Amino acid sequence: MSGRRLVVVSNRVPLPTERGPRAGGLAVALADALRPGALWFGWSGRRAARPAATPAETRGEDGVAYATIDLSESEYRLYYSGFSNNVLWPLLHFRLGLVHYRAEEYHAWRAVNDRFAAALAPLLRPDDLIWVHDYHLIPLGEALRARGVGQRIGFFLHTPFPPPEVLRALPRAEQVLAALAAYDLVGFHTEEFRRSFLRAATDILGLAETDGAVGLGGRQARAVAVPIGIDAAGFAAAAAAAATGSELRRLRASLAGRALAIGVDRLDYSKGLPQRLDGFARLLARHPEHRRRVSFLQVAARSREDVAEYRALREALDRIVGGIIGQYSEFDWVPLRYMIRPLRRETLAGFYRAAAMAVVTPLRDGMNLVAKEYVAAQDPADPGVLILSRFAGAAAELGAALLVNPYDPDEIAEAMHAALTMRHAERQARHRELAAAVFSATAERFCGQFLAALAAGG
Ligand code: G6P
Repeated sequence: MSGRRLVVVSNRVPLPTERGPRAGGLAVALADALRPGALWFGWSGRRAARPAATPAETRGEDGVAYATIDLSESEYRLYYSGFSNNVLWPLLHFRLGLVHYRAEEYHAWRAVNDRFAAALAPLLRPDDLIWVHDYHLIPLGEALRARGVGQRIGFFLHTPFPPPEVLRALPRAEQVLAALAAYDLVGFHTEEFRRSFLRAATDILGLAETDGAVGLGGRQARAVAVPIGIDAAGFAAAAAAAATGSELRRLRASLAGRALAIGVDRLDYSKGLPQRLDGFARLLARHPEHRRRVSFLQVAARSREDVAEYRALREALDRIVGGIIGQYSEFDWVPLRYMIRPLRRETLAGFYRAAAMAVVTPLRDGMNLVAKEYVAAQDPADPGVLILSRFAGAAAELGAALLVNPYDPDEIAEAMHAALTMRHAERQARHRELAAAVFSATAERFCGQFLAALAAGG
C-alpha cells in the first residue's frame, strides 16, 4: 500500500474534536493506518432537516482529512435505526425473533448508501485504497462501482456472520450477499464467520468458490479472516499509569478490600447482560462465602435508544439490578454497582487492572475488545481472571480464558467462583497465554494484514 492513499468509510466518523469516552474501537484500531493524508468519510452523527449533498471537510491535527455528511430525520429512522439496527444487527447476531423487516427501510438503506457513494466518488483519486466498515454500508461498494469507481474496495464486517440457514430468513438476503460479493476483499473476525459467508454465497447465490474467493459479474471477491486487535502496549501503559490516579484511589477506598468484578458493555441485547447478572446472583446464592467479599461493577453505556428493543432492555435491567440489590444488600455492603454512563478509556484501563475478574459474556459478538483490553491491562505479577463467552469472536484467540456458555447463569456463577478462588500460579499461566495472543494480534497487525490483502492483486 506504500504511496497509496487510504480512504476509510464508516457509518460514524469520530471527528477528533468530538471524540468522547466512547470513541474507541475503530478509531483506535485504525490509528496506525490513518497516516497524514488519509481520508475518513461517513456520517457526522448529526441529523439535519435538509442535509447538504456535499460533505463538510476538516483536517485533524493528525493530518487526516475528515469528510462527513448529515442524515435527514427520515434517513436516521429508516436507514440507521431501521434496517441497520432493527434488521441487520439482530440478524447478524442470530436473533431472528428480533428482526423487524420493512421493505421501506431496506430501500432507504440502499438510498443512503447511494447518497454516500455520490458524495464520496468526487473525492476519490485513482490510486486510492478504499476500506469500508460494517453492516450499515454493505451496499456502498456496489454503489461506488455503479458510479464508475474502479479502485480496489475492501469491506470489513465488525459483527458475526451467521450461517446461510439463519441468513435466509432475511427478505433480500440475495441482494445483501451480492452486495458483499461486489467487493474485492471481504474481511471477518474469525474463520467461522468467513466460512459462513462463503457457504452463504455458494448455497444462496449459487456462486462458485475457488480458494476462498467467489466470483460475481466478472469480479472476484476474496474472503479473509483477520481478527481486530487493540494497541496492547498503549493500553497496558494507560492501565499502569491509572494505578496511581485519583479515580482508582476512590474506587479502592469504596471497595474496602473486597474483590472487584467488572463488566463493561454497550447497553445492547447481544451482550447477555440479564443472564450475566443472573449468574452473579446465583454465585451469591450458591456460594454464600462470597457475600460481602466481592463487588460487581457493571458499566452499561446507553445505546440506540430510538430502537424499541433497546429501551425494553434498559427497563428490564433496571428491574433485574433492583432485584439483586434488594435481595442481597446489607446495610454496609451492596453487591452490585450499575451505571449507564460511559467511563473514560483511561479510567477503565485502571479499573480493569484493579479487577479480580472481568465478565465478558455476550450471547454473540463479532470480536469484543473489552476482553482484549482487560488482558492488556493486567499486572503480569498478579493478573485477574477473564470469563469469556464461547460465542464472542475473541474466544477463537483467547482460549485460555474461562470460557462459558453465556445462556447458562449457573455456568457463569461457577466460572465466577472458580475465578475468585483460582490459585496464583494458574492465574499467571492463563494470563501468559492470553497476553501472548493480545500483544501479537494487535490493531497494527489487523490493519497491516487487511490492507496488504486489499492492495495485493490491485
Ligand atoms: C458496534 C458496531 C459499530 C457501531 C458500534 C456503536 O460495535 O459494530 O458499527 O458503531 O456498535 O453503535 P452505534 O449504533 O452507536 O454506532
